[in-house]
Amino acid sequence: MPRVAIVTGASRGIGRAIATGLAEDGFEVALVARNRADLDAAASDLARGSGVSHSVNVLDLADTAAIGPAMDGILTRHGRVDVLVNNAGAYTPGGLDLPAAELETMLKVNLVAPFLFMQAALPPMKAQGSGHVINIASRAGKVGFAGDGAYVASKFGLVGLSESVYREFSEAGVAVTSICPGWTNTRLAFGSPLAPDEIIQPADILETIRWLLRLTPAVRIREVMLECRRSIV
Ligand SMILES: NC(=O)c1ccc[n+]([C@@H]2O[C@H](COP(=O)([O-])OP(=O)(O)OC[C@H]3O[C@@H](n4cnc5c(N)ncnc54)[C@H](OP(=O)(O)O)[C@@H]3O)[C@@H](O)[C@H]2O)c1
Repeated sequence: MPRVAIVTGASRGIGRAIATGLAEDGFEVALVARNRADLDAAASDLARGSGVSHSVNVLDLADTAAIGPAMDGILTRHGRVDVLVNNAGAYTPGGLDLPAAELETMLKVNLVAPFLFMQAALPPMKAQGSGHVINIASRAGKVGFAGDGAYVASKFGLVGLSESVYREFSEAGVAVTSICPGWTNTRLAFGSPLAPDEIIQPADILETIRWLLRLTPAVRIREVMLECRRSIV
């Protein structure tokens, strides 16, 4: 039976690189995002030549009531979960000027959704005595930035949640790691003051995950921070 990975935000950017790499490494992947056409394109790339059956799961993470039923469907369809990558994220620049509704949407996508995915994935991982949850937070989950308080709040929240779940489930055999990258070369990095080739690449995050998954089960890595060489703040 192949190992199963659930990757949110798998349709483009960092999530697509992670889903592609994990499929290359033999995982059956459940891809989650909103845009069906992008997901279908990603899934057919993953499946090419492999014979493995990945799944496309169209879901808006801001619709938090839909996440539990969607996870039930994914777990039934794939039969198990070995790796959960909470990667999907929303970024709207803004601090106290931001309408509260925009903050609420970011909190749902960046914090409540990972909470609900973990709520569904941790019991089967605990029952099988193994599993790895990877939460893609941000450098903005460790450092505050003027004018970006809403996004920063959502990512600080995710880092704190991740650390708490890490401590709660470690001895049950489940590893939990938050990855905190600086600017990474995707559509979301539209505000970067650095050129695309001066910042982190999605492949760097995939390689970080591959390294985490290769470690022996006695080891835990709570948090990994990736910074750009020319980091300016
Ligand atoms: N790029 C950076 O500089 C950077 C730095 C640090 C951390 N991060 C974090 O890395 C993660 C991935 O970001 P990225 O750079 O790869 O961004 P991206 O290229 O914009 O990709 C975001 C992914 O998340 C999905 N997504 C967004 N909102 C969603 C929603 N409401 N429901 C379901 N899926 C949703 C998107 O698919 P659909 O649009 O089809 O839903 C897409 O697959 C995010 O958590 C982000 O905060 C990024």
